[in-house]
Amino acid sequence: MLNIPLMATVTYLNYEVLDDNGWDIDDNDLFENAADADLGEEDYGSLTVNQGEYILEAAEAQGYDWPFSCRAGACANCAAIVKKGEINMDMQQILSNEEVDEKDVRLTCIGSPETDEIKIVYNAKHLDYLQNRVIA
Ligand code: FES
Repeated sequence: MLNIPLMATVTYLNYEVLDDNGWDIDDNDLFENAADADLGEEDYGSLTVNQGEYILEAAEAQGYDWPFSCRAGACANCAAIVKKGEINMDMQQILSNEEVDEKDVRLTCIGSPETDEIKIVYNAKHLDYLQNRVIA
């Protein structure tokens, strides 16, 4: 049985910052580099997410304008890459098993924390392999 945390801290980094700086999504120092880079709060920071709350909702509650379209697990607009911790998703049919299990893609509109400390790169819809499922 899963031990879902009452409250989780989600540290986030905007994928566009990786693009701008030439950083790689697989770089192990990604979040250390981000912490040293003097980024604005919309690009790098942390959110508190309550038990059962979706990560996208928590970001919006904190005033952020993260990408989304369907809010129902049927597009890739809200995609994020998990770099630390685990995010559990409701039923989705848009991502392949490989994308979920090996590339650690999660949909923030239907994703809730499963561990109390999480690091994600949000705005991952800009990754090439997700482009064909982004709703314009
Ligand atoms: S907004 Fe479409 S899957 Fe999240």
